[in-house]
Amino acid sequence: MWVLICTALLFSLTERATCQNKAHPAAAPAAANTYSITFSPEKITAQTGLCAVISCTFTHPANVKPTTAIWYKCPSNGKCVQHRKLIFHSKDPSKAQEGYKQRVSLLETDLTKGNCSVIINDIREKDTGMYQFRMLEGPFTYPRKMKITVTGTA
Ligand SMILES: *[C@@H]1O[C@H](CO)[C@@H](O)[C@H](O)[C@H]1NC(C)=O
Repeated sequence: MWVLICTALLFSLTERATCQNKAHPAAAPAAANTYSITFSPEKITAQTGLCAVISCTFTHPANVKPTTAIWYKCPSNGKCVQHRKLIFHSKDPSKAQEGYKQRVSLLETDLTKGNCSVIINDIREKDTGMYQFRMLEGPFTYPRKMKITVTGTA
């Protein structure tokens, strides 16, 4: 019995560590002064109940000072940037959809560092889909999207 509990605990700790590590790949900064976004990796597979990290960096024209990050989860068809598709707003968390409130957070809150990575906790099957980043200053929506595929628990 104890062995079982320990194994389960160890497993979940390992998973969590793995999840944290995903935020670390050193992405080469893209050329500054233009709008660009890089996801590394470009898509991820997440497991229900665990967390998922979208590891992302972005650049922007020098005259724009990024202070507000917004993330959308795209509908299966139609555009992502719609008020009701918002899952994260760094200035006004209340704007997020019910199911995402308090589940999504930035890894780096200082957006001037060009790091748009977010962690999504307590992954659910419905989280499968494409995600898109928008910077309110500009404003500018980065056209490239991130794909998350959710699998059931092992
Ligand atoms: C983004 O910031 C987080 C937290 O500081 C860090 O762990 C991560 O490595 C950064 N990601 C990139 C791609 O620089």
